[in-house]
Amino acid sequence: MLAQGNLRASDNKGVGPSFALSWYALRRFVWAIREEHSCLVRNHDSVLLSHCPHAVSENSVRIASVLGQTRSLLRFARGKPEPEKGPSKVSWEVINSCDARCRTCQRWTEETTPRLLSTEEGKWLIEDVARLGTLSFSFTGGEPFLREDLLELVRHASGLGLSTHISSNGLSFDDDRVREICESGLSTISFSLDGPNAELNDDLRGIDGYFETAVEYVRKLRDLREKTGRGPNIVINATISSKNASWLATFAELVRGNGADGLTFQPVHDFGGIQLGTSDNLQLKEEMVKEMSDAMEVVRKRDADIVPLPERFYSGMVDFVRDPRSLYKIPCVAGYLFAQVDPEGNIYPCPIKFASMGNIREKSFSDIWFGEEAKDIRRRIRADDHPICWMNCIAPMNILAQEIRNLRLGSLLSPSFRRHIMRRLKGA
Ligand SMILES: C[S@@+](CC[C@H](N)C(=O)[O-])C[C@H]1O[C@@H](n2cnc3c(N)ncnc32)[C@H](O)[C@@H]1O
Ligand code: SF4
Repeated sequence: MLAQGNLRASDNKGVGPSFALSWYALRRFVWAIREEHSCLVRNHDSVLLSHCPHAVSENSVRIASVLGQTRSLLRFARGKPEPEKGPSKVSWEVINSCDARCRTCQRWTEETTPRLLSTEEGKWLIEDVARLGTLSFSFTGGEPFLREDLLELVRHASGLGLSTHISSNGLSFDDDRVREICESGLSTISFSLDGPNAELNDDLRGIDGYFETAVEYVRKLRDLREKTGRGPNIVINATISSKNASWLATFAELVRGNGADGLTFQPVHDFGGIQLGTSDNLQLKEEMVKEMSDAMEVVRKRDADIVPLPERFYSGMVDFVRDPRSLYKIPCVAGYLFAQVDPEGNIYPCPIKFASMGNIREKSFSDIWFGEEAKDIRRRIRADDHPICWMNCIAPMNILAQEIRNLRLGSLLSPSFRRHIMRRLKGA
């Protein structure tokens, strides 16, 4: 079990020599993206750049948010201790219950019934963060589709110009749900699969027929999207453990073979407890690093077009296994550019939830975000007084901040980084 809460690192977190150069790097970077993509978002989603032929006036809100978050990222990279804006990304665990039985996650064993945020409370949360300039809003859980109002909440968020994302196991899908998803304005859906075949996946996720169901609905969503021109990006997300590390490259084949758009992955984390505790010893170990690295090398070279993760994410996977403390070298944006909300409305800096900033039933999100507890948590994070993780919802943002801080122009302008940013802007 990882328990690195008190570890510190002597590192190179110092702010780079020249902010002007960082700014230049960022402008070059945005320019490169503009050259490559004249239209950022497919279908009817909001569009970022005014030169895009689909741009409409409602997008001015989104443009303002993108610019605000770019400034916020630069502020963070310069070492400014407090944000002026809300988080760039908010992830809300809408429910803890779950209809799967995964071995990497024990939420489904939870017996207590949390007092879930109501639909109205959820909408207030969404409105509050949209006002603060948040770009993307993610719905997770538990299994988010066990909430009947999920797509109502998605529609509310996308109506306010937020990029929206759902992470799901797909088990409760039917054809009506596929249609509703495509009509909801959802930007991206991730289907969680822990094996690229039924045998491995269903063993790891504890439900016979899981693989077949999830893949069936990946295809149905893609088919309806093709037919109607409306629907989300479809991503497969894999949690990489001792049981599936050598299969990583095969996940990419699964993505291509079923017409999904992308593959994301992250190492299994084990902090014990219900949220991020594994049921048995699934953690990656040193002796698996070679196999995992070989598989990642295939993905890195062959599948870069479908994997929206920056290069440094791959070596970070290895660091996470070998020496997680070395990742303290990378500044963490948790609680600055990222916030996690639990089913009862508690706000945390990240999915590890090591400290709460407050509850939105007691104060508004905005008061919590700019309040004293939040400042204290940011102080702790700056001092490396927090558990270390390599989650794909945060690590790529950390990498981006570090590359800006260290003025790594080559990396910032690389195709893998540009692809990553594009996917982020689309809500992936
Ligand atoms: C907690 S689930 C909630 C949403 C939904 N039920 C699902 O599975 O996609 C979100 C993601 O976390 C991943 N996950 C589960 N246990 C994990 C662990 N111990 N370490 C890292 N990721 C984990 C899941 O595979 C899933 O992709
Ligand atoms: S990972 Fe998702 S599907 Fe699996 S038990 Fe946890 S919440 Fe449920």
